[in-house]
Amino acid sequence: MKPLIISFILLFFSLNAGAAIRGVCSNCHTMHNSQNGQSASFNSVVNDSLTKGDCIGCHAQGGSSEIVEVGVDSIPQVYHNSAVDLAGGNFAYIDGTKGGNASDAKGHNVAALVGTEDTLSSIPGAIELNGYGPHPNFSPTTLTCAGSNGCHGNRPSSGEFSAISGAHHGNIDGQITNPITTGSSYRFLLGVKGLESPNWKNESESSHNEYYGVSNPVKLGCNSGNGEYSCHNSGSSGVDLSPPNGTISQFCMQCHGEFHVMKSDMGAVIQSPFIRHPVDYTIPSSDEYSNYTLYSIEAPVARISVPSNPSSTVTPGSDVVMCLSCHYAHGSNYPDMLRWDYSKNIAGGSASGGCLTCHTSK
Ligand code: HEC
Ligand code: HEC
Ligand code: HEC
Ligand code: HEC
Ligand code: HEC
Repeated sequence: MKPLIISFILLFFSLNAGAAIRGVCSNCHTMHNSQNGQSASFNSVVNDSLTKGDCIGCHAQGGSSEIVEVGVDSIPQVYHNSAVDLAGGNFAYIDGTKGGNASDAKGHNVAALVGTEDTLSSIPGAIELNGYGPHPNFSPTTLTCAGSNGCHGNRPSSGEFSAISGAHHGNIDGQITNPITTGSSYRFLLGVKGLESPNWKNESESSHNEYYGVSNPVKLGCNSGNGEYSCHNSGSSGVDLSPPNGTISQFCMQCHGEFHVMKSDMGAVIQSPFIRHPVDYTIPSSDEYSNYTLYSIEAPVARISVPSNPSSTVTPGSDVVMCLSCHYAHGSNYPDMLRWDYSKNIAGGSASGGCLTCHTSK
C-alpha cells in the first residue's frame, strides 16, 4: 500500500510542478479595475481578459529586475535595467534605459514600448509575395508584441490578447516538440519547437535554451508547386502563421523572408558560395568549423532534433547555424541587435568569439 500512496503523492507534486500559473486569481486579474476607488491595474488601464496589465504592463515594467514575482508566479521581463538579460534580449537598449546611447537599430521597435522605428521605412528582407509587395501587416512603425502586427501567438488574430488567448494557463514548459497551440509552442511563438530553459535565461554552456533547426533551408513563398513553402499553415484554429518545419529561423523568415534565401536558385542541394549568410544549414565537420565543440551562448547553434536537456557540446556535421547565432530577438546593446560587437571581429589576429566562434581560423 505505502509505496502506492507515496507514488501518488510524488505524481501529484510532479504534475503540479509542471503547471503553468499557480497563484491566486487577484494577483493578475481585476474584475472591475477598481479597488477602494483606485485603479487596480499595473498600468492604470482596463485590459482584455480582465488582466491587471497588458503585455507591456506585465512584461515590461522597466525596473531593476529581469524577473518580477507576483505571489508564487514569476513574470519574465523584456524591458528592465538589471545587469542580467533574459535569453530574448532587452528592449531597454533601444531607448537607452539600459546601456545608454539609444538607437532604434538595437532592436525590434515595439512601438507602444520604445516608440516607432525612425531609420527603417520598411522591413529589411521582407519577402515580396507574388508581386503583392511586402506583407501589409508587418510595418516598421506598427510592431506589437502579439497579434497581426507582432510576433507572439496566432498572428491572423486581430488583438494581442485574442492572439495568445489561453496560452498563459495552458503554457507547456520544457521540451516542445508538438507546437499545435500558442501555449504548447516555444515561448508562445506559434508552431516553433525548442527546449525552454526554466528561468528564461541562457546562462552558461550547460544551462540555456535549445533552439530547433533543419539542415537544409527551405524557400518561403506562396507557390507550393515551385518548391516553395507557404507560411500559412492550418493549425488547430484554422489558418495560422506557423513556420513549415517549426524552426526558429523559419519563424524570422516569415517577416524577413529574403534573408532565408541562400541561393538565387534554391535547388535540392544548397552549398557554398551563398548569396546570404546560411541559416538552417549544417555546420561542416571539416576545416575551421570542426573546432567549435564547446557550446557558446555568444554564438549559439540550433539542433536538428529537440533534446530533453541542454547540452554543452556542439557537434559540427549535425548542429546548424540560425538567425539567433548572431542576433537577439528583442534587442541588444549592438547595432542590428547583434549578439556581440561586430567591430571587434578582426581577421588574421588573435581575436576570438563572435563570428570567430565558428570561423575559428579567420
Ligand atoms: C500570474 C498571473 C495570473 C494568475 C495568478 C491568474 N491568471 Fe488568468 N490569465 C492570466 C493572463 C496573462 C491571461 C491572458 C492571456 C492568456 O489568455 O494567455 C489570463 C487569462 C485568463 C482567462 C481567459 C483565457 C483562458 O485561459 O481561459 C481566464 C478565464 C482566466 N485567466 C481565469 C483565471 C482564474 C479563475 C484565476 C485564478 C484561479 C487566474 N486566471 C489566475 C494571468 C493569470
Ligand atoms: C497579468 C500579467 C501578464 C499579462 C497581461 C501577460 N503576461 Fe505573459 N506571462 C505572465 C506570466 C506570469 C508568465 C509566466 C508563465 C509561466 O511561468 O508559465 C508569462 C509568460 C509569458 C511568455 C513566456 C512563455 C514561455 O513559454 O515561457 C510569453 C512569451 C508571454 N508571457 C507573452 C505575453 C504577451 C505577448 C502578452 C500580451 C498579449 C502577455 N504575455 C500578457 C504574465 C502576464
Ligand atoms: C512580425 C514580423 C517580424 C518577425 C517575425 C521578425 N521581425 Fe525582425 N523586424 C521586423 C520589423 C517590422 C523590423 C523593422 C522595425 C524595427 O527594426 O524595429 C525588423 C527589424 C529587424 C532587424 C533590424 C533592427 C534595426 O532596427 O536595425 C533585425 C536584426 C531583425 N529584425 C532580426 C529578426 C530576427 C533574428 C527575427 C527572428 C527571431 C525576426 N527579426 C523576426 C519584423 C519582424
Ligand atoms: C554558428 C556558426 C557561425 C557563426 C557565428 C558565423 N558563421 Fe559564417 N558560416 C557558418 C557556416 C556553417 C557557413 C557555411 C560553411 C560552408 O558549408 O561553406 C558560413 C559561411 C560564411 C561565409 C561564406 C559564405 C559562402 O558563400 O561560402 C562568410 C563570408 C561568413 N560565413 C561570414 C561570417 C561572419 C562575418 C560572421 C559574423 C557576423 C559569421 N559568418 C558568423 C557558420 C557561422
Ligand atoms: C552569421 C551571422 C548572422 C546570421 C546567421 C544572420 N544575420 Fe542578420 N545580420 C548580421 C549582420 C552582421 C548584420 C549587419 C548588416 C550586414 O553586415 O550585412 C545583420 C543585419 C540584419 C538585419 C538588418 C538589415 C538592415 O538593412 O538594417 C536584419 C533584419 C537581419 N539581419 C535579420 C536576420 C534574419 C531574419 C536572419 C535569419 C534568417 C539573420 N539575420 C541571420 C549577421 C547575421
